Amino acid sequence: MAEPVPVIRKLEHALADDDFAWSLLLVGEDQTDKLATLTGDLRGPVSTTGDGKQITSGFSYWGIGPTIAWANATNDPFYLVMKAGAESFLRHWRKVRPHVENGGFHLVSLGVGTGVKDRTILSDMRRNNRDMYYIPVDMSSEMLRMGTLEPVRGARFPVSQVLPVQLDFSIADNMDELAQMLARLVGNDPILFTLTGNTLANFESDEELLSTLTHVLRPQDRLLLEVASTTRLDQETADAAADEYHQTRAFAEFVTSALRYNTDLKINNDRVKFIGEVEDEDALLVKILWQNDTDDEIRMELPDHTEVVLPIGDTIRLYTTRKYSTTRLKRLTEACQLTPVEAIQSQFRYTRRPNPFGLELLLLAPDAAGEAAHSLADDIWAT
Ligand SMILES: C[S@@+](CC[C@H](N)C(=O)[O-])C[C@H]1O[C@@H](n2cnc3c(N)ncnc32)[C@H](O)[C@@H]1O
Repeated sequence: MAEPVPVIRKLEHALADDDFAWSLLLVGEDQTDKLATLTGDLRGPVSTTGDGKQITSGFSYWGIGPTIAWANATNDPFYLVMKAGAESFLRHWRKVRPHVENGGFHLVSLGVGTGVKDRTILSDMRRNNRDMYYIPVDMSSEMLRMGTLEPVRGARFPVSQVLPVQLDFSIADNMDELAQMLARLVGNDPILFTLTGNTLANFESDEELLSTLTHVLRPQDRLLLEVASTTRLDQETADAAADEYHQTRAFAEFVTSALRYNTDLKINNDRVKFIGEVEDEDALLVKILWQNDTDDEIRMELPDHTEVVLPIGDTIRLYTTRKYSTTRLKRLTEACQLTPVEAIQSQFRYTRRPNPFGLELLLLAPDAAGEAAHSLADDIWAT
């Protein structure tokens, strides 16, 4: 009797012949563990400063509610920074592109979002490497489905070369497993990893995340990092950074959506505070938190049906973000043994007065990649 053909080999043909919108997804982690983590984080200690109960990075985008809320926020015409960011990304990417056009790179997008940037990157990269794979990695399966539509339908990237992976990339073991799977998939071909949209800034310890990601880079791989930047570091500028996120209703909807979908807390947007501070003298930190500013304790039910008491003044951290100075970026990349191959920076020009804020796109190589990049690094960090 003939051996059965493994289902995975037959799947491509089975799906291609169907008009129904199937999408393939590789799930890396048990999602019940993720829900248990979120529930545990919401049971944290009492804090009036957003440092107790919290929703950590990937969880703010996890599930269909937050995914839709994120898509709405990025499309909100009043969210000027997002608009300026999309435009500057195109200009910046064009300058970085020559470094990854040749050599047969594949793309691993860490945090796919709406997929708009991946669409641009993929249509450029595929011109030089028709056989390339696109591996979007995200904690949210809904985000993966939405985000991959943009390059597949919008830029006609072949669906048979796309492998969406649902995984929390902030966990070192997950990154190690992902790297091993990728090595089996692409062999020694180089990989361009991308972490765009200031995603690095969302993590409590940005250095820990960057070092987790760097750990899996082989000498031939590159990391494309997009971060929000600032040329000023004082309390007034930190307040302005916090204010930037306060401006749009769609962003407030997004930032509260994880709490709305995972608890029974009745959310009044007046209870959401945007707090800016100078962090370690080399970055601006913005904490967005819900605070019980009523005169009574509030009770909140968690996904496991247990109840948490929120005393007067208690907070739940909803979102963390930052704006980076060049000093901080230099410190982070040096700590993670990364060398810049290219760095492009631009200031926002949508305000009448000079604006200290901007965006920076860095193409980074692991130090093991060789000496050539070092002389460039001196020029880049000297500016
Ligand atoms: C700020 S958005 C950036 C989206 C896109 N890269 C861009 O430049 O517009 C962050 C993305 O990373 C994902 N994400 C955040 N933390 C994550 C984690 N720990 N593991 C996996 N995905 C995560 C979110 O679901 C979301 O799609």
